[in-house]
Amino acid sequence: MTDRSAPTAHPIHDLLRARWSPRSFTDAPVSAAQEASLLEAARWSASCFNEQPWVFITARRADAPEDFAKLASLLSANNQAWAPKAGLLMIGFARSSFAANGNPNAVAAYDLGQAVAQMALQAVALGLGSHQMRGFDLARATAELGVPEGHEPVVAIAFGVTGTPDLLPEKIAEREVAPRVRKPITDFAHLGRHGTPLKL
Ligand SMILES: Cc1cc2nc3c(=O)[nH]c(=O)nc-3n(C[C@H](O)[C@H](O)[C@H](O)COP(=O)(O)O)c2cc1C
Repeated sequence: MTDRSAPTAHPIHDLLRARWSPRSFTDAPVSAAQEASLLEAARWSASCFNEQPWVFITARRADAPEDFAKLASLLSANNQAWAPKAGLLMIGFARSSFAANGNPNAVAAYDLGQAVAQMALQAVALGLGSHQMRGFDLARATAELGVPEGHEPVVAIAFGVTGTPDLLPEKIAEREVAPRVRKPITDFAHLGRHGTPLKL
């Protein structure tokens, strides 16, 4: 796998450091066992009231080519330029209300995001890359994937064996090798009250 490990300012776990969002995938398949492992990682994510408000529509290219093509067709043109070489596509939905009492669940998308984050780290452990995408047709995902009413499509995810940048069209390959940058911690973490600098 191409190493794009994060140039961290403080130590973090190797799994976190090694995760990044590739666009270059070889066309190697993702196995059923790997998919099961990814979804098991999602399954053990924390969620408000243990509601587990996520639904994933998934398709492996090698084993469900028609379903895979359908999911790929929902992606934006930019994402369709690279994501269909991945071995596995998913669309993640969040249930907007609590199953127990029907009240709105304001943290459903937050919970879905945590489940996806766990899959992204499990993917690293499996030697796979993952790339989350908001660029897909939300209306078509709602209309065409059979997910019951009351679920919002939130994110598409490509999983696969990470390839080298030269497999990509030049414009996309440039983004694949651009430096990885982040805000400093002091921009988003404050001591006790917003604006009081945190000394680290
Ligand atoms: C919710 C979400 C939506 C995203 N949507 C897209 C997308 O549609 N297309 C794309 O190429 N990247 C997308 N990304 C990837 C981000 O651009 C990427 O995570 C960010 O630049 C940080 O890079 P890294 O993941 O390699 O650390 C998305 C990421 C997230 C978490």
